[in-house]
Amino acid sequence: MSGIGSEMEPTFPKARPEVESLKAYSAPLEGRRGLLRLDFNENTIGPSPRVIEAIWAIPPDHFAIYPEYDGLREALIANLADRSNGRPGLAYPLQPQQIGLFNGVDAAIHAICHAYGDRGETLLTTSPTFGYYTPCAQMQGMAIEAIPYERSDFAFPLEQVRAALASSPRILLICNPNNPTGTRLAPEPILELAAAAPRTLVVVDELYEAFTGDSVLPLADFDATANLVVLRSLAKTAGLAGLRMGFALGAASVIDRISRVTGPYDINSVAVTAAHAALSDQAYTDAYVAEVKRARGWLSAQLAAAGVRHHCAGGNYLLIWPERPVAEVDAELRAAGILVRSMAGKPWIDGSLRVSIGTREQMQQFWAAYSAL
Ligand SMILES: Cc1ncc(COP(=O)(O)O)c(C=O)c1O
Repeated sequence: MSGIGSEMEPTFPKARPEVESLKAYSAPLEGRRGLLRLDFNENTIGPSPRVIEAIWAIPPDHFAIYPEYDGLREALIANLADRSNGRPGLAYPLQPQQIGLFNGVDAAIHAICHAYGDRGETLLTTSPTFGYYTPCAQMQGMAIEAIPYERSDFAFPLEQVRAALASSPRILLICNPNNPTGTRLAPEPILELAAAAPRTLVVVDELYEAFTGDSVLPLADFDATANLVVLRSLAKTAGLAGLRMGFALGAASVIDRISRVTGPYDINSVAVTAAHAALSDQAYTDAYVAEVKRARGWLSAQLAAAGVRHHCAGGNYLLIWPERPVAEVDAELRAAGILVRSMAGKPWIDGSLRVSIGTREQMQQFWAAYSAL
């Protein structure tokens, strides 16, 4: 049979054309334990001790039972409505049906595209932005229109986005603050965009809003603005990235559609237990966020004093342009036990490193290693 195989059609079943041509989201996820992780914008110290206690207290038979979600939506509502410690609360009471539970916000983004995106329709977003939006849209056969952050300060291209909305894209995805540029957008223009484009689902990915306070939630009335969806996660601030817990908030009818395309038990019961505990200890998360903001200010001041080109805005991350090739600096930092994320090849920020911010002590460790390079 020699010589025939090379001309034969592959024998495995073909996937849908969109999947055959898909470039899957890939990130250097392996071999990260034990290193200083400044590469995925995770919480760098772990969750509240209450989360650990709650997980240890899980009785063995719990693992044999399918997860139960009762009370989790209510716990999130109580957490968001709480105005203590200067938190903004909610202007309108949220109902449990206005909250969708997902296996991380990644799963929510996937479900939104699955439920709302279709072949030939458009996902409007910005560039550069979070890398998972594109494959989720492409696997549905959607076209992507990505408006660049082309200004040197990476300001949000509001006028261009407003103009692009005129052609009624199916979905507008705004990452606020944007990962990786940190670009901030006030809630009012987002609500204006949503009001001006009622046929577009306007999704605001607020994964890092704790670092800016720019959320639309304190203003949002999902009954009046039914095309608005807000994404929140317990990954980055509450420290549950490994357990996966994300939320989509919006009009009950929209959340119902998005939730139809998920499995009945997509979120595991350990994540549910951990989420209850994390939501009950907001003071821990607030203290971590405050520490990260102080550390961000400290690192930014060191970079400015040393004349290093950098960009620091919202989010628990900043961009640094090393003078030497970025791959070399990335590799040398890894050899020193520090992980950062190269932005090589990303439009408008090629040649930069994204450095996640942890505690002040961790930033001192990073700065000592970086300056030594
Ligand atoms: C902007 C943005 N959205 C969503 C996610 C995914 O969040 P989760 O861990 O909840 O799936 C990330 C993770 O890096 C992110 O940066």
